[in-house]
Amino acid sequence: MANPTLDPATKAEPAAKPKPSVVRAVRTIFSKSDETDEGRVIARRRRFVMAAVLGTLSLNLLMFLRFFFPRALYEPKTRFRIGYPSDFGFGVDTKFQNQYRIWVVRNTEGIFVISAICTHLGCTPDWKPSENKFKCPCHGSGYDPEGINFEGPAPRPMDRAHVELDPEGQILVDLSHLYQWPKGERSQFGDTDSSGSGGAILRNV
Ligand code: FES
Repeated sequence: MANPTLDPATKAEPAAKPKPSVVRAVRTIFSKSDETDEGRVIARRRRFVMAAVLGTLSLNLLMFLRFFFPRALYEPKTRFRIGYPSDFGFGVDTKFQNQYRIWVVRNTEGIFVISAICTHLGCTPDWKPSENKFKCPCHGSGYDPEGINFEGPAPRPMDRAHVELDPEGQILVDLSHLYQWPKGERSQFGDTDSSGSGGAILRNV
């Protein structure tokens, strides 16, 4: 009977070389199987190099993804609806001060919208109901309930925004279209637009 260990026909095939793969390479680099000091030093260097490569690749990937999220500046809307005229009683309504930086005022003539920006250097004045006036906290300018300056360094009344009624009857405010009363000049606070559908004030509402 032939000895299988001596029989060339049954000679064992050499073990197949494992195919290289990224996973195996990373596992080898990070494995702690190196027994000798030299092996440990080499392994440490490999880990360092691999960490540096992975770090660089990650950084590049993040920078690439950053392009899909531009640093956009979201400005507040300049045209918006604030509700129906019946929502506003007589006097100063401050509920849109933080959202749109405006006050809505109803007086005996109608409804108008004041841009809440001090005409001195642009601070936001405070409405003081007990004193029935707007008071600027920066340099002390004072304005009456209609936004007309009467004390402090403010050079003119606060501006008013264009207002009109939309088809549903809601008040549409346009802060990109302001009406002013420059010192010594004609007041624009009674102006209406050419179509007559809106202006500095909504009358009879
Ligand atoms: S900014 Fe209002 S008084 Fe100066």
